[in-house]
Amino acid sequence: MKKILITGGLGYIGSHTSVLLLEKNYEIIIIDNLSNTEINVLESIHSITSKKPEFFNCDITNYKKLYYIFKKNNIDCVIHFAALKSVSESVQYPEKYFYNNIEGIKTLLKCCKKFNVNNFIFSSSCTVYGTPKNLPVNESMPFGKPSSPYGETKIKSEEILLKFCEKNKYFKNISLRYFNPVGAHNSNLIGESPKGIPNNLVPSIVQSCFSKNIKFKVYGNDYNTKDGTAIRDYIHIEDLSKAHIMAYEYIKNSKNNYEIFNIGTGRGYSVIEVINMFEKISGKKLNYKFAKRRKGDIKEIYADTTKANRILKWKAKFNLKNMLESAWSWELKTNSNQKALK
Ligand code: NAD
Ligand code: WQD
Repeated sequence: MKKILITGGLGYIGSHTSVLLLEKNYEIIIIDNLSNTEINVLESIHSITSKKPEFFNCDITNYKKLYYIFKKNNIDCVIHFAALKSVSESVQYPEKYFYNNIEGIKTLLKCCKKFNVNNFIFSSSCTVYGTPKNLPVNESMPFGKPSSPYGETKIKSEEILLKFCEKNKYFKNISLRYFNPVGAHNSNLIGESPKGIPNNLVPSIVQSCFSKNIKFKVYGNDYNTKDGTAIRDYIHIEDLSKAHIMAYEYIKNSKNNYEIFNIGTGRGYSVIEVINMFEKISGKKLNYKFAKRRKGDIKEIYADTTKANRILKWKAKFNLKNMLESAWSWELKTNSNQKALK
């Protein structure tokens, strides 16, 4: 049986997608350099699925190692998650981000060409739209001005993939532009575990309930929105990972060799709406403060998901309440584990 290579498969989205693929009886191999995850995620994947995928601790910029993995395995498709993803860190260390994310995809494509691997699914981001002129955003809208070096690496990667597809007619790529993923697997064995102080909204909210060091701040209440706070399209991690299965099942028979799909719910929520719903679910009162707008943030974005609904036959099933319940339950579990270790 041909295998699916998952880069960054021990990370947040990669681990959830790996679980779904294993549950569907696909054979997978995982590559991760563990720069933003822990090896015990592999054990958790095993606990959920009773299957242990082959794992390589490998950096995707390492051509020699990658070559060896491609040579040893009969690979049908690459699902490429491995990248650095912190917006703020990318502002601090732009070269590190360009090297890891751009050199990484180039090295992978070099191996795909060498070993005739012709199916590729890429983790892109809604950040490529920059500040959208019209809402909801659809896939035919042009790239916006990137608000960070991280965003630039996603635009550049999409451009590299488009060129590669134009040159290699048998090579097919699907870029999935994720909106804002939230939540954890229903087993509570894998979830989002940001290292250090989190940047993203939901991890910041849930962790602030337990930490005296993290004071929760709402960045900006002077946007031109219903309550003055910024609006985003949050998507449950289980819906998001399912989109990769649909993309894989679609790519094998598709005629087009380059496709882009938005992966969101199509509905925007303000920061205050997220907080209010979280307070109801958890019974916790967040003593949040309003702070200045965060540099690089935009007022509002949400997806037009018509294309993914129609072509991939994919549609988000979970709503914001489901996402926050899931994120809260994961936080309760990881927090009690940490306490038990002390
Ligand atoms: P993550 O950091 O949890 O997972 C990425 C994994 O890739 C990590 O386990 C990390 O150790 C690994 N990795 C990084 N560089 C590597 C390298 N050079 N070689 C091998 N492994 C490497 O991030 P995530 O949230 O799971 O994101 C997965 C992908 O989705 C990324 O490409 C990210 O840019 C993209 N994305 C994420 C979000 C989000 O909000 N989480 C939104 C849009 C797009
Ligand atoms: C959401 C809203 C914040 C934290 C980022 C990346 C994007 C994509 C998804 C990878 C914003 C506000 C946040 C806090 C707050 N990732 N907020 N207090 O910025 O929409 O998107 O993750 O591709 O590229 O930029 O997500 O969760 O950081 O912020 O008020 O402590 O919550 O200002 O309005 P964002 P986020």
